[in-house]
Amino acid sequence: MNDKKQTIQEQGSGAIPAPILQVNDLVVGYGAIEVLHGVSIDVREGELVSICGVNGAGKSTLLKSVAGVLKPRSGSIRFKGNEVGGKKPENLHKHGISLVPEGREIFPSLTVGENLRIGAFGRYDAKRYEADLADYFELFPILKERYNQAGGLLSGGEQQMLAIARGLISRPDLLMLDEPSLGLSPTMVDLIFELIRTLKARGITILLVEQNARRALEIADRAYLFSNGRIEYSGMSDELAESIDITSVYLGGNNGGEIL
Ligand SMILES: Nc1ncnc2c1ncn2[C@@H]1O[C@H](COP(=O)(O)OP(=O)(O)OP(=O)(O)O)[C@@H](O)[C@H]1O
Ligand SMILES: [Mg+2]
Repeated sequence: MNDKKQTIQEQGSGAIPAPILQVNDLVVGYGAIEVLHGVSIDVREGELVSICGVNGAGKSTLLKSVAGVLKPRSGSIRFKGNEVGGKKPENLHKHGISLVPEGREIFPSLTVGENLRIGAFGRYDAKRYEADLADYFELFPILKERYNQAGGLLSGGEQQMLAIARGLISRPDLLMLDEPSLGLSPTMVDLIFELIRTLKARGITILLVEQNARRALEIADRAYLFSNGRIEYSGMSDELAESIDITSVYLGGNNGGEIL
């Protein structure tokens, strides 16, 4: 197992921004089950980093741990230089960590506007909120049209947009997206990936979990490939994408029947 482990070295020279998120040797589990067996990742300011891997690899567990929803058993999570492992999600949200969870988890009976307002919880600034809302309505015109409608009336793709907008409205320093394309039509998947590209171009630091590895590697700067709660490979996305014979072993799953 261990002799399979490789790291594809990152290329490039010049000044490398400091990591905004540093996860080191993280161990997390549920009850008697250990799911993450010593995971280390880092995300630098302005980067789009993707985590890919098959069902049950531990991707959501990692994001939930960074967001404070799950308590680490050991290891460290440093955010903007401070240890945050085990801190409460509401405190981490205030400090700039935003999780757009798997399955959207919008409030179906609340309006689109109310769902968005919840995203600003803890980081609310009335003036900035109105300006940001106007800005996000340009990115997500559907949310303006449906502002007073119940969130549950939106289509799956529209709900995903609402979930992403809700994640952004607090102006996070780190936006974590858990499987944003899952279960969406091909057209909507294209829209979501285009949107993520736009967010990256705006300088937003993004940690993206995706089973659609091909698409994720296309837009990400770097990626980590997960298997059974461990990182098996990491490196620049383009290099990983070229290593099809290696990565296809790890990247089955929901690619519409396609292996990387
Ligand atoms: N609340 C829980 N209680 C017990 N086991 C859990 C719980 N949540 C997840 N697990 C287990 O932890 C492992 C990792 O789950 P996790 O949801 O992190 O995987 P994932 O990589 O996000 O998978 P998927 O691609 O299906 O979303 C799985 O074996 C899963 O069954
Ligand atoms: Mg998951």
